[in-house]
Amino acid sequence: MKLVLALAAMLVFPLAARTADADWPVYGGDAAKTRHSALTQIDRSNVKLLAPVWRYDTGEKGDTQTQPIVVGRTLFGYTPAHKAFALEAATGKLLWTFDSGIAGVGANRGLMYWSSGKVPSGKGPSGTASTRRDRRVFAAVDRFVYALDADTGKPIAEFGAQGRIDLGADLGRDPATQSVRLTSPCVIWHDLMIVGGRVGESLPASPGFVRAYDVRSGALRWTFHTIPQPGEAGYETWPKYAWKHTGGVNSWPGMALDEKRGLVFAPTGSAASDFFGGDRLGDDLYANCLLALDAATGRLRWHFQFVKHDLLDRDLPTAPTLITLKVQGKTVDALVQTTKQGFVFVLDRETGKPLFPIEEVPAPPTDVPGEISNPTYLRPTTPAPYARQRLTADELTGRTPDANRWAREQFAQLRSDGPFKPLTVGQDTTIYPGFDGGAEWGGPAWDVDTGVLYVNSNEMSWLGSLAANDTGRSTGKSIYLRDCAACHGENRLGSPPQFPSLVGVDKRFTPQEFSQRVRHGGGRMPGFPQLQDDAITALAAYLATGADLPAGKPDDSPTNLAYRFTGYRRWLDPQGYPAVAMPWGTLNAIDLATGRYVWKIPFGAFPELAAQGMHDTGSENYGGPLVTAGGLLFIGATIHDRKFRAFDKHNGELLWETTLPFSADATPITYMIDGRQYVAIFASGGKERTGSGGGVYLSFALSSSSTH
Ligand code: HEC
Repeated sequence: MKLVLALAAMLVFPLAARTADADWPVYGGDAAKTRHSALTQIDRSNVKLLAPVWRYDTGEKGDTQTQPIVVGRTLFGYTPAHKAFALEAATGKLLWTFDSGIAGVGANRGLMYWSSGKVPSGKGPSGTASTRRDRRVFAAVDRFVYALDADTGKPIAEFGAQGRIDLGADLGRDPATQSVRLTSPCVIWHDLMIVGGRVGESLPASPGFVRAYDVRSGALRWTFHTIPQPGEAGYETWPKYAWKHTGGVNSWPGMALDEKRGLVFAPTGSAASDFFGGDRLGDDLYANCLLALDAATGRLRWHFQFVKHDLLDRDLPTAPTLITLKVQGKTVDALVQTTKQGFVFVLDRETGKPLFPIEEVPAPPTDVPGEISNPTYLRPTTPAPYARQRLTADELTGRTPDANRWAREQFAQLRSDGPFKPLTVGQDTTIYPGFDGGAEWGGPAWDVDTGVLYVNSNEMSWLGSLAANDTGRSTGKSIYLRDCAACHGENRLGSPPQFPSLVGVDKRFTPQEFSQRVRHGGGRMPGFPQLQDDAITALAAYLATGADLPAGKPDDSPTNLAYRFTGYRRWLDPQGYPAVAMPWGTLNAIDLATGRYVWKIPFGAFPELAAQGMHDTGSENYGGPLVTAGGLLFIGATIHDRKFRAFDKHNGELLWETTLPFSADATPITYMIDGRQYVAIFASGGKERTGSGGGVYLSFALSSSSTH
């Protein structure tokens, strides 16, 4: 009997597939952020037998975007309210949960793991010699990072203050008025935890310094000023006093690490405010840069600035992926950076020099008084962009003749001139590729075996415009327009589900809760800790009744800018579908040695359009791919069809798909325990239009009858 089963297993899996157990110990799979696995048990021939093995329902909902990590036999993840938990990665059995007492909201993309590497020689708690290693997971909640015992989930008291550090401290500004959150895990190098974080995107905002903390004590070891201070290189690319008030320039999507060279690669976002830079004229180093920093000291080795004086929130949306490439017969350690604007940049890892020629293309100028836009932008000559670059009247939706007619009429009213057209006052400009890319935080997958890069991309136009601020007034309405309308809309209706309506907010929140919410923020909302009580009271009154009460003296600080952004809006047709031509999302396979596309396919569907025969619409997608030596590309990400798919990585053929309880706005992982390969993903529906959603982890494997 046993013999028969063993033979059956050998028939299903070639012997070579019986590799050792493998984990997924860091966000992105490895320090190089390849999102690649050498596992081959699940392959092109058997992936259709993939079935759910366990599911862990957190019982919460939210747009958490988490990729769990697996160390040994344990999986570590977050719930949508940012409780950290550990479970058995083979069974889904819960081991512990850590609740900080603070309800987190929104993105929290993964935990970080560290172990001392050797067994401490001291006595254990029971007086016996301890044989336990010091194993920690670092969990972010709100503005804090906690160090937790990986075995128990208990905070480690000697780390920071009672087990946590405060990212709002040590920025050279009043900690009480800072808003910093670690929405993506960063890197651990030796005994250092190197982090960035999310900060506000309109002024006032915290500076997005890159910092390294001691993993044992939580002590701050070094800081790299992403906004240089007097005497530091790059200071000259800003107005003299801007460093005191400006903010942003933060590394929010995580970092890559070259362990051998001791180099950490930190991508940065734009300076605040995103869309008007009259107070930050100049190139604004080190905004929109890739920074190569000495992991031990934080010293800058090189930088590459992708966008000078950004006026369109062209943050680097993901950490780079470290790759090794054969170029003209030479093997080069390089890195690849995907961008929101649809470009793939390939740089030498040692020097930051591009491996393919990059051209400087004229950019349309701004017409906003007080603004000076950069006259050019950078575009790699190869590979070609994975997202369309220019929206014209011929590039509009063909979903129905009516939708096309509507889009043409609208388009005639819009400004559209390529990916770097600055916004203007009183008229909408197309942002295309959109605010969410091109590429997003899911990052690409790099196939170390074949040299192919896989990138999923959005093809969505957004609209944006500026309005003059009433800088001479300080009332409930003027504060609302300046600080809140960009997300919640001038009409207070928001843009659900991403940005909630604030109508009736007085009935949902007590004044204390409202004040707490506004000062602290949560999810994509930054905190506004600088708003005084009178401002909060006037805001609350304005939201409740429209009353426009005075709130102290007008703000005469340089953060009270002359112009504000009027709000984030996707350009959708009257039925709610993208107003641009299909496909609305793509999946791309690019051979980086040649820059050529191996394949490119529409990615994602709208079930109701598919039912009418429109299958290849593509759709918005958030969360990256996973590529395996088994010949597969796994990806969830599509926000309307709730699918989790496996493609043949060689040709893009769909080999397997399953419908998840919610869309997986997250990147999958794979790991192997006791000779069985698992593929797991977090599904939350956080970006679904319905606003329902949940928080479920699912793990898949080949059916056990075929593995045992
Ligand atoms: C950058 C975008 C952004 C800005 C600017 C912003 N918010 Fe928000 N706000 C959000 C998002 C996103 C949420 C939902 C967070 C969540 O719960 O996921 C939210 C939620 C809220 C809520 C809770 C609503 C509810 O029903 O749960 C309140 C109240 C609120 N915001 C008030 C404000 C006020 C007042 C301002 C200006 C001082 C402001 N916001 C500025 C993005 C923003």
